[in-house]
This record gives sequence, structure tokens and C-alpha cells, in this order.
Amino acid sequence: MCGIVGYIGKEQSLPILLNGLKALEYRGYDSAGVAIGDKGTITIKKAVGQVKVLESSLATDHPIQGTIGIGHTRWATHGVPNELNAHPHSDCKGRIAVVHNGIIENYKELKTYLENHGHIFRSDTDTEIVPHLIEDFLNKRNNFDSALFDALKMIRGAYALVIMDAENPTTLYATKRSSPLVIGVGNNENFLASDPSALIGKTKDVIYLNDGEVATITSENISVVNIEQQKTSFEIVRLEWDLEQSQKGNFPHFMLKEIFEGPEVVRSTFRGRIKSEDNLVKLGGLDQVRDKLKDTKRILILACGTSYYAGLVGEYLFEEIAGIPTEVHFASEFRYREEPFDEGTIAIVISQSGETADTLAALHKAKEYGLMTLSVVNTVGSTIARESDAGVYNHAGPEIGVASTKSFLSQLTVLVMIAIYFSKDKSKTQLILEELEKIPEKIEKILAQSELLKKLAEKYNHYEHFLFLGRRYNYPVALEGALKLKEISYMHAEGYGAGEMKHGPIAMISPDFPTMAIVPHNSVSEKMMSNLEEIKARKGTLFAIATEGDTTIASLANDVFYIPKTIEPLEPLLTVVPLQLFAYYVGTQRGFDVDKPRNLAKSVTVE
Ligand code: F6R
Repeated sequence: MCGIVGYIGKEQSLPILLNGLKALEYRGYDSAGVAIGDKGTITIKKAVGQVKVLESSLATDHPIQGTIGIGHTRWATHGVPNELNAHPHSDCKGRIAVVHNGIIENYKELKTYLENHGHIFRSDTDTEIVPHLIEDFLNKRNNFDSALFDALKMIRGAYALVIMDAENPTTLYATKRSSPLVIGVGNNENFLASDPSALIGKTKDVIYLNDGEVATITSENISVVNIEQQKTSFEIVRLEWDLEQSQKGNFPHFMLKEIFEGPEVVRSTFRGRIKSEDNLVKLGGLDQVRDKLKDTKRILILACGTSYYAGLVGEYLFEEIAGIPTEVHFASEFRYREEPFDEGTIAIVISQSGETADTLAALHKAKEYGLMTLSVVNTVGSTIARESDAGVYNHAGPEIGVASTKSFLSQLTVLVMIAIYFSKDKSKTQLILEELEKIPEKIEKILAQSELLKKLAEKYNHYEHFLFLGRRYNYPVALEGALKLKEISYMHAEGYGAGEMKHGPIAMISPDFPTMAIVPHNSVSEKMMSNLEEIKARKGTLFAIATEGDTTIASLANDVFYIPKTIEPLEPLLTVVPLQLFAYYVGTQRGFDVDKPRNLAKSVTVE
């Protein structure tokens, strides 16, 4: 959840580290810090708050010189966000500097041991045991490499660690277990980052470290060994993301930019993969397992948050289009299931980042069950993408806004294509493909009405509660709309299946508790209308998302936002867009930094 950067080369490292930290700030922003090495000493600077606070405190100090350095932006787990708890952390003598993502589970026992052996701790973090543990081994045998490996063998938990030693001023050390870390390969310079987006504009060539590997990195050389210090091979992967994609351009926020990227994201997700005239879907990532997938009888979808809601739409798609029974599980709960799975069951894990700890744990559990695992992932080369048997990339480009928007659209697009890929009855699929090709244009029409949504948001931004209702394909959209609103505007919002409303939530309906009704014209719209009547009869305020040309809804709802018509399985690709915009406008109008909502982090790498 925190962000890590590292640099070794010929340039001054500080500006490179600060730029990398700014790119990673969406992962955590309680506090930030850097450690820069020069002439056998390490200088550490930290500040509470966003990276710009650290940057301005550094601007008032003497600039720190040095061509090797590490940096960190923190999302607090152990210890409150303050300067002492900010990373990098150091040993007693200030020889070693460490940045860390994840949680060291056995830190308490190690800390007790180290304190009993005279080590003085300055922070409440689990991380600080790492430099002290290395120092402890160094005190016994003055060999940094063996001290490092001895220390790593003692720590348990999830971690990505980058380590500097003042006495080895030309080397960075990096290792990981269940927490992402990539090496950016440059020309006479090398980089480290917990997320490849920090490397955009610096290098496109990256090495993804595997769990348990330790990399020793100089400006000219990278070597990777396992924990037993045996050399392991590595692959350099080329990233296709460019600088423009990682910048806001003319938009005030990444979230708005990414919502407006929706049409292009859907296009680039299906580009080269569908041929509507031939009623064909081609998913190269599934080719290698094509034969094994033929006998799929049941699908489990495992994911968290917005990706889970995309999975709920997938459930309807797979059952209706492919005729395969499907269940969706919260990845964080799936691990507690003890269910015997029949042959023919496969698991599909969905994750934008490809690094979500709960989703990764669910993937491992599915593998333990012996299930074939597929992934739907946006970040190329991420852990989930590498560890699943096969998969389909989203091709949405980097998503920087903490709240998922464009990746939801690309996940839905991938799920439509997978459903068609699995379908044995092709009589309905050509129409779906033809309609999918028209979706980007229809999203553009919705985006062209963004000013209207902004005005409507002004009318609703003072409420403290919101109910979101939908049925069938739009039930998950109601859940997603409520999630977007609560995480961006801190307004209490609940999503429900409209039929469930009368089984409890109706008790809350009042003029002060408005309802967002997702009611496009479809097979369930009459039932939706009855539920809306029930709300109206209790003087509830109604805001409806409806299909262009619907003449009945306006007499019932206080406000209506119209969207173009599409076929029911593709409706979520349209209905979610006004909800994303609505959340964006309410959040900004209430004065919040929507790209960095409080307490959240982009990639949740702790369980
Ligand atoms: C909500 C949001 C989160 C993520 C969830 C899973 O806007 O972004 O709910 O969807 O943390 O993340 P990924 O998809 O990276 O596994």
C-alpha cells in the first residue's frame, strides 16, 4: 500500500526519487522520506503528509547530494503517521537504511530480542527491526552480504524491502515476499519501484522479482539470487505505458481524466480481440489452456472491491451467455471456504493492480484446490498475472486515481468477451459483439452531458445518506455507484438490489435519504418502477438513470439522467459512467482531494 522507489546511477538521486514518490503517492500519503548515500554516509530526511511537504522541507535545507538513494511514501499500518514512523528506517549506527512495504509478522519477538541485545528503537514500526537485525548480524561477523541473508531468513510476513549500506555506496539490495517490487533497467543506471508506474518516463524495461529472491543492483549490473544465495535467472519485460498516460493533462484530477478515458479504454480492451462480422472472440492469453477450458462446468470469480462488483456482473454474463453456473466470492473470504470442488470448476481472479494481497491469497487457495486459474488483470507482469495459469489483460493503461473507474469498464469488457469465448450457443453472441463495438460512442454521449451531472451533483451534495438501487445486471452497478460515492465524498451510501429494499432499507426512506435508481428500459424495468413507486409513496427523493426516450420516469423521479439504449448484458458499461461522474462531482464540490481519498490506498498489499 506504501510506495517504494530506489535509484543508482550517475545522476543526482534526490529529484529522481521525489518524482518517483509523487507518481506513487496514490498508494499511500501519510508521510514520506528519502535516504541518500554519498561518500560513505547516508542522509535521511522525512516529513509527515504528502510528498510536496517533504519536497518543500528539502528545498529549505541544503540539497542532499548523492547518486544512490531510496524513498518511501507511507500508508500507516504499525504506528501513527509521524516523522519517527516514516521510512526510511535505520540501525543504531546509521549505517543501514531500509524502506519497506507490507507487514513483518514476527516483528514483536524480534524487537524484544534486539532490545535485549542493546538495540535502541526510535519508531513504533515493524520495519525498524530490519536494519537492527542486519546490524546485529554485522556485529557478530562483519560481512554485509551474510548479515543480510541471515536477517532475511529470520523475518516472516509480507514484504518488499530495499536496503542501502553506507559502506557499500555503489549497491542497492532488494527483496520481496507477497508484496510487489520491480527493478527498472536503465542505461548505466537502475531503478527500483513497488509499482512500475513510478518508472514511466525513466525506463520501459523492468524485471519483476519473485518471492524470496534477493537482487543486488549497481548502476551497471543486476544479479538475482534465492535466499540460499544461488543465482536465479530473470526476464526483462517491456512495458507499453507512456508518460502521457501517467499525467493529468488538462484535467484537474486523475479520476476525471480516467472517467473520460472510458470510451478509449473499452475500445482498446476489445481491439484486435473481437470480429463481430465473424461472430468471433480471440483471447490470445487463453490459447495455451483452450483444451482444458472446454470442459468448464462451473466458474468461481474471486476479487475485491470494484473488481468484485465487476465479477458480480460477470456472474450474470457467464450464466446468460455461456450457460455456465458461476459464483462470485470476496477474495478475503474465499480462503475460509472448505468446499470440495468438482472437476471442471475453474477460478477467475479479477484485479486491476494484480497485487491485491487478498486476491493473491484467494488465487493460492484456488491452486491448492487444484483448480485451473485464469486472471483478468490490468498491470502487465504483476504477481497475479504471473501466478495464474492463463489470463486476459485489460489494456486500460495505468490507473492513477485511487478510486477505480476506467478499469471497471475494461473489466466488464473482458468479462463480456470471456462469456462469449465460453459460449457454445452462438445464436445470441453476434448481436452482443456488434453492440459492444457501439459502446464507446455511447459512453462519449454520456460524457458530453457531464455539465448536467455537475449541476445535479450541486443539488445533492449536501445530503449525508444515499441509497443506490438496481436489478439484475444493474444490481452490481448500484453497489459500485454507492462504493464510488462513499469513498470519494465520504457520504454514507448503500447499494441494494431493488427487490431487497422492502426487506429492510425502506425503513430509512425519507426526503433526507435520497435514492439513486438505475432503471434503464429492460426486462426488469417494470419491477424497478414498482419499487420506485414504493419510495415515492414514502416521500423519498428520487434520482433516476434511465434510457433516452423513457417518458414515464420523469413523472416519478425528482431528477432523471438519460443514457443511450443498449442491450441488457452491456448496460453496466453505460449505467456506471454517470455514477462515476456523480461521485466525482459530489466529492470535489464537498472540497475533497478525490485522487487521494482519506485512509485509502490504490493497491492493497496487506491482508
Ligand atoms: C474502489 C477500489 C477498490 C479496488 C480493490 C481491488 O474504487 O479501487 O475497491 O477495486 O481494492 O483492487 P484490485 O482491482 O487492484 O485488486
